[in-house]
Amino acid sequence: MSIPAYVELTQSPHERLSVALNERTYSRIAILVDENTKSFCLPLLENLPEHELIEISPGEQHKTLETCGLIWSKLTEAGFDRKSVLINVGGGVIGDMGGFAAACYKRGINFINIPTTLLSQVDASIGGKLGVDFHGLKNQIGVFQMPLKVIISPLFLKTLEPRQINSGFAEVIKHGLISDAEYFRSLKKPENYRNDQFLDLITRSIFIKNKVVEEDPREIGLRKILNFGHTIGHAIESIYLDLKENLLHGEAIAAGMICEAYLSTKMLKMREDHLEEIVAFISNIYKKIDVEGVDRSLFIDKIRQDKKNKDKEIQVALLSEIGSAKYEITVSESVAIESLDYYSSIVQ
Ligand SMILES: NC(=O)c1ccc[n+]([C@@H]2O[C@H](COP(=O)([O-])OP(=O)(O)OC[C@H]3O[C@@H](n4cnc5c(N)ncnc54)[C@H](O)[C@@H]3O)[C@@H](O)[C@H]2O)c1
Ligand SMILES: [Zn+2]
Repeated sequence: MSIPAYVELTQSPHERLSVALNERTYSRIAILVDENTKSFCLPLLENLPEHELIEISPGEQHKTLETCGLIWSKLTEAGFDRKSVLINVGGGVIGDMGGFAAACYKRGINFINIPTTLLSQVDASIGGKLGVDFHGLKNQIGVFQMPLKVIISPLFLKTLEPRQINSGFAEVIKHGLISDAEYFRSLKKPENYRNDQFLDLITRSIFIKNKVVEEDPREIGLRKILNFGHTIGHAIESIYLDLKENLLHGEAIAAGMICEAYLSTKMLKMREDHLEEIVAFISNIYKKIDVEGVDRSLFIDKIRQDKKNKDKEIQVALLSEIGSAKYEITVSESVAIESLDYYSSIVQ
């Protein structure tokens, strides 16, 4: 099973980091953390060489150009030159934003990502998409740029809240559904994985994501299958975000996958028993999100903001069966609403 050359999967992240830092000569080293990863993850990276620590507040609301400004100010004030390196220790927010900040600083310095959430280990750290949110739109400003190294260790997951683990697990479910039925059917509930089993899970998910990304790095075609569950999921996520309700990305995507599995039966004639299997597995892990009161025209507005739509059409990635996906399937507004009604009616 092949994973990208820049990824190191390890039970000794500190050793791998030390090797990576010795492979080149750097003038200076900066480490970006948030409050949580400073307390929980930095201690696992023993014997760090001399570095400048940049700490930011945790959370998606800080994934902004303002925070990048803070990072660039720190690097500038400390006199970092083009031969310096930035090490991003944290979840997808730190990885996406730290990578973007590094890719822009002095037209680009090297960066190493150490993803510390399940979501960032199986998804965000693979494929070179970097960026920040802007004007309320997710990842509106960004670049494609591969990190020098990504060091992934399940050791970091020990301190992650179960809710965050479940959130990342939604992407694992997605990987199985879009490309590997046997993988999907082998999945257990996230709380039943041990540390070493997480390593296998992460490896398999990275393999699937990487296979897709390598074929279509710029998301012209095939890469769009990774958006399964995300068109409807993002709309739900965004509505909850506006309401300042606490909903994690993967929780919204889990609901989105149920809606889009329903759309798959409508548009691609996916078998009903596959739909039932998906619904049963997902609803055994994730609590139902209340979408009954969601204004259906707002829901459609949110779907229309999706970057992946073409012209005026709503386009989604759907399943022809468990383990196989197709992209650029056009759905009407009424069928999209029907899928939300379906979710609202069936999940307990
Ligand atoms: N670039 C991509 O291809 C891609 C793909 C998917 C998601 N993303 C992005 O990833 C982001 C979401 O990432 P996330 O779910 O990792 O969220 P996150 O980075 O906000 O981390 C979630 C929370 O967990 C804390 N945390 C991180 N590691 C911890 C640890 N080991 N122990 C205890 N607490 C820890 C963080 O401080 C934070 O409070 C979004 O911004 C999304 O857009 C990017
Ligand atoms: Zn996602």
